[in-house]
Amino acid sequence: MGAVVTEREPAEKKMTTDDRDQFSSMVRELSIALGKDGVVFAQALDALLAADKYQYPYLWSWMGVPIIQLPPDIIATQEVIFAAKPDIIIETGVARGGSVIFMASMLELTGKGKVIGVDIDIRLHNRETIQNHQMAKRISLIEGPSADAATLARVRAEIPANASVMVVLDSDHSRDHVLAELRAYGPLVTHGQYLVVADTLMGHIDEQRAPKSRSKMWFKGNEPLSALNIFLGETDRFAIDPVINGKLIFSSSPGGYLRCVVP
Ligand SMILES: C[S@@+](CC[C@H](N)C(=O)[O-])C[C@H]1O[C@@H](n2cnc3c(N)ncnc32)[C@H](O)[C@@H]1O
Repeated sequence: MGAVVTEREPAEKKMTTDDRDQFSSMVRELSIALGKDGVVFAQALDALLAADKYQYPYLWSWMGVPIIQLPPDIIATQEVIFAAKPDIIIETGVARGGSVIFMASMLELTGKGKVIGVDIDIRLHNRETIQNHQMAKRISLIEGPSADAATLARVRAEIPANASVMVVLDSDHSRDHVLAELRAYGPLVTHGQYLVVADTLMGHIDEQRAPKSRSKMWFKGNEPLSALNIFLGETDRFAIDPVINGKLIFSSSPGGYLRCVVP
C-alpha cells in the first residue's frame, strides 16, 4: 500500500505590510552611510591586499569564461545595466572575454543590445572563446589601441543612431591613458547611462602597498582615479552615484560608477 498523503491546511496568511519602499530606502541610506565609513573601507582594502597574494581578482569566471573582476563589481555592473538598460555597452579591455560575455548576458536578459569590446591585443584563443560562446551574437570585437582616433572611428561606426550608450573603461590603467579614454569615450555616454572607470581602487594604494604580482604596477598618482578626478574638473555631464559607489567595498572600482546627468 502506498504512503497516505494528507493535505495540509494552507498556512494562515499573515497580514503583512508592504515594506518594499521602506526596504529600498534602507538600502539607499545604508549604502550612502557605508560610503562615508573610512574605517570599514580601510579594513576591506587590507583584506583585498592580503588576498592579492592569491591573485584574487583573477579567480572568477562568468558563463565559463575568466572575468578579471571582483564579485561586488560584477553585481554593481549588473545593477546599473538593469536600471539603465543601455542599447550599446562599449568596454575597453577585453582580456579573456569574461566581462564582455557577462555584459552581453545581461543585455540578453533585457532582450536587446550589443557589447562592443575593444582591446589592443585580442589573442586568437580568446577571440575563439568569445566568438564560439552562446552570447557571441551580442558582441562585436574591435582590435586596436582604445584611445586612437582610428579605433574610436570603428567604435562609432558600430553605434546605431539614437542608441543609448554605456561605457566601461578597463584597459591600460595609467593616468594619461585613462584620461585619454575618458575624453574620447565620455562624450559617447548618453543621458541616464553609466560611465564605469575600473580599478579606481589603485588611487587608494601607495607604492609600498601596491600588488607586485602584475606585469605592470599602478599606484596612487598614476592610475584611473587620478585621471577621473582631472576629467570631472573638465565636465559637468557626470555625477558619482553615491548609492552604488557607497557600497563598493571589496571592490576594484569604488567611486568609478558615474551617471550621465546632462543630455
Ligand atoms: C584588466 S584587463 C581587462 C579585463 C576584462 N575587462 C575583464 O573584466 O575580464 C586589461 C586589458 O586591456 C588591454 N589593453 C591594454 N592597453 C590597451 C590599450 N591601449 N588599448 C586597448 N586595450 C588595451 C590588455 O590587452 C588587456 O586585455
